[in-house]
Amino acid sequence: MEKAFWTVILLILCKVGTLKGDVLSEYGRKKSYSTDHELFVKEMQIKTNFDDLCAVPSDDLRFNCLQGDNASKETCLERGCCWNPIGNYGSGASAGPPSCYYPTNYVGYTVSEVKNSSMGISAELILSTKSYYPDESVFLFADVLYETDSRVRLRIGDSNRSRYEVPLNVPNVKTPALNRKYDVRISGFGQRFSLTVSAKSPSSNNTRVLINSTGAAPLIFSDQFIQFSTFLPSQYLYGLGQYRGPLLHNINWTRRTIWNRDQFVPVGNVGANLYGSHPFYLVMEEDGNAHGVFLLNSNAMDIDLQPTPALAWRTIGGIIDMYVFIGPTPADVIRQYTDVIGHPFMPPYWSLGYHQSRWGYKTANRTLEVVDRVRAAGIPQDVQWNDLEYSDGQKDFTTGYNVFGDQPALVAEIHKRQMRYIMITDCGISSNQPAGKYPPYDIGFEMDIFIKNYTGDLLVGKCWPGETVWPDFTNPKTTDYWSQMIQNYHSKVPFDGIWIDMNEMSNFVDGSVHGCTDNKYDHPLYMPHVTNGSLYRKSICPSARQYLGLNYNVHSLYGYTETKATYTALQKTLTGKRPFIISRSTFAGSGHYGGNWNGDNHATYVDMHSSIIDILNANMFGIPMMGACVCGFLEDTTEQLCQRWTQLGSFYPFYWNHNERWYIPQDPAAFSEEMAKSSRKVHLIRYSFLPYFYTLFYDSHVNGDIVVRPLFFEYPNDKNTFSIDKQFMWGPCLLVTPVLEEDQQQVSGYVPKDVWYDFYTGQKINGNGTYQTLDAPLDKINLHIRAGCIIPMQNPALNTVKSRKNRFRLLVALNSALEASGNLMWDDGESIDSIEKGVINRLDFVVQKRTLVVSMTESGYKTERMTLGSVDIFGMDGKPSTVLMNGHRVKFSYDSTNKVLQITGIAENLFRDLVVNWK
Ligand code: NOJ
Repeated sequence: MEKAFWTVILLILCKVGTLKGDVLSEYGRKKSYSTDHELFVKEMQIKTNFDDLCAVPSDDLRFNCLQGDNASKETCLERGCCWNPIGNYGSGASAGPPSCYYPTNYVGYTVSEVKNSSMGISAELILSTKSYYPDESVFLFADVLYETDSRVRLRIGDSNRSRYEVPLNVPNVKTPALNRKYDVRISGFGQRFSLTVSAKSPSSNNTRVLINSTGAAPLIFSDQFIQFSTFLPSQYLYGLGQYRGPLLHNINWTRRTIWNRDQFVPVGNVGANLYGSHPFYLVMEEDGNAHGVFLLNSNAMDIDLQPTPALAWRTIGGIIDMYVFIGPTPADVIRQYTDVIGHPFMPPYWSLGYHQSRWGYKTANRTLEVVDRVRAAGIPQDVQWNDLEYSDGQKDFTTGYNVFGDQPALVAEIHKRQMRYIMITDCGISSNQPAGKYPPYDIGFEMDIFIKNYTGDLLVGKCWPGETVWPDFTNPKTTDYWSQMIQNYHSKVPFDGIWIDMNEMSNFVDGSVHGCTDNKYDHPLYMPHVTNGSLYRKSICPSARQYLGLNYNVHSLYGYTETKATYTALQKTLTGKRPFIISRSTFAGSGHYGGNWNGDNHATYVDMHSSIIDILNANMFGIPMMGACVCGFLEDTTEQLCQRWTQLGSFYPFYWNHNERWYIPQDPAAFSEEMAKSSRKVHLIRYSFLPYFYTLFYDSHVNGDIVVRPLFFEYPNDKNTFSIDKQFMWGPCLLVTPVLEEDQQQVSGYVPKDVWYDFYTGQKINGNGTYQTLDAPLDKINLHIRAGCIIPMQNPALNTVKSRKNRFRLLVALNSALEASGNLMWDDGESIDSIEKGVINRLDFVVQKRTLVVSMTESGYKTERMTLGSVDIFGMDGKPSTVLMNGHRVKFSYDSTNKVLQITGIAENLFRDLVVNWK
């Protein structure tokens, strides 16, 4: 009885929900309904039996209709959706199948026209079922742009009014790709709109369906709620950052929310929105192929995942501007993605060294004491940092002589030690200093570059110096302002790089000192599941005005735009040298200008493990220069945790030890002598690998290659690797297996099917795709070299200025055919345009038929000597009787247990071809 009653109500509501031509006039209609279309929709709704429409074959196929959390039968039916609670499940994500879901005939938009366009396909869509959300677009365009053979762009927007679009400098492609590896179909002529993107599997020629919106949640396009949903070809989904949780997403009714926020990482809170926004995902398909999707949208959004598998993007502004990257390898996907958002910046060589920091040195003298303590322990370090305490009252671009002491003198001392100096800069500019006393405010005010509130007055909030205003980095004038501030400050304190913090943007009062208004931007009807349920908690009001529009739209771009402006400012300041910037907040494309760390972590083993996931994700997001506060930022660390974390951190791309002022010092020389010794050992290993690492960064800068990678990037056909996030690889050749638990002397590490060599001994391990127990005494991190690789290394030293002058070493790991190869890029390590101008050297290393050939393929960088000092060959098939180098016999040693040949004590000029052979 009850069912029948609701069925009737629902049929009536469906009819009411069907738009009539006259409703459309408010949009100054440029297009009009066809009568056929209207009839079709009506007929369909009258004919169909509602029970059938709600009877989805599996609960996993329920697409959440009531995205808010207050599902009730009434609100559900009001939307024309099916109400059918199962068990204890509620309506929201993480709770199982929703009680309120779309009936199968929920139309949303129908297609009225599909035609070819100069770049691909162009369709027109008409709203046919009103959703619950106000201000829906009636006419939409759906453009398919065949941008490259492996990349297609799909844009869905309002045909009659322009909407906010993310100001990212994406490629502007004018001619369609001709040899497309994908096929895009738009269907739903006179019926529900749907879209598919498919591609052929290169190995099997099977069809891979990458995007398929047919039967997923319907397209909704209203002013403040946009929904696009697709089935996924597999459950192996990655990306969608920044978040806390496993590398491989659990798609069993979970949700990711994206909206930048100053949010220290809540243990176990997988849902919390954190410092960065990366609406990009990568899917590993069942057969080992991979594809990626980037939604170029910067509004607050939820992404709901369900086990079908399927995904629904739900954003509260902008348009649907989606790129699909065809792969087919995961590495291809990242190359294709970074082609759009910008390849990673080329870091200066010194930035690959060890960075030491803490909030709590208090003075310049103390800072230097710690530098010298680490140095005295023989622990390599390249960069020393200062946090807020260097400044006067925590105000940007000031130095606090009275309390901190002489900062310029400190910098001079650091430079004398051949090291570099970086200090923090916050984005909040103190706004209540006496007039004429604080130029950063006065000049900014004069230039009119600070963010305004809804009424057009300066938006005042609070950050470290007290009341603050924020430069609007979406305004081109702000880059001039920022450059002026940075140049001026640099003329007094000659720093080498900048740390930009609090740029989510973080505000110590919610919204502003006057709170926010009660408008639709500060309080949107659909609120993505952000922490505290407020877009302005710990930040500024979304209704605030910026040059490129409302903060509602550009909020999550703050860190990105600041990084970009800082890059320009540093280019002007450090004439000819590469900028180095570490920003806490990021957006897609940030890696083109700077690096990142994962924010305020805790001194726990759990956070140590999480840092690996953050680094792997950032690498997939095009930010290879990524780190975490080694030993933990909050809470006192322990010596053992810090020792293990130092070992892991030595394999972070951005290797940075930093902690909070209330906790114990945790530099590597702050503990016992054994700890210092083990830190020295692992730092020396890192420093010896830097030529290889630098070359990986070069490949990433030039080709968009991923630097630090999950194992599945190298073994995409081995499903066991898909969920591994406790190990990682440096490029294709080095496997890192850290200890991530307390009091362990062994570690269980996955050894992919391949031949591997223990880095320390050269002992061969036949990987068979299983976990193996590896010895891991307290002073050791397990490192394995992949057979077939030649890794260029260099003898380490206390810093990279010194190590760069040392002799090179080649680590050759022979495969079963007794072959190996590798390469090296070498330049001065700091000129901004060395690559563009070709002032670089490139070397190839190849072993075949018991002969190693070293050849320089590019030799534009001639100023430094490059000398080969030793060669180690792992995986020999027996002791050679002679080893010849360019025809001359050389001395060697041979370890017959591990089958390692070592040639030491040589000094071969790498500018000349070199042939080493053994018999
Ligand atoms: C927050 C940053 O996350 C942290 O690293 C820094 O120490 C403090 N701000 C103080 O500047």
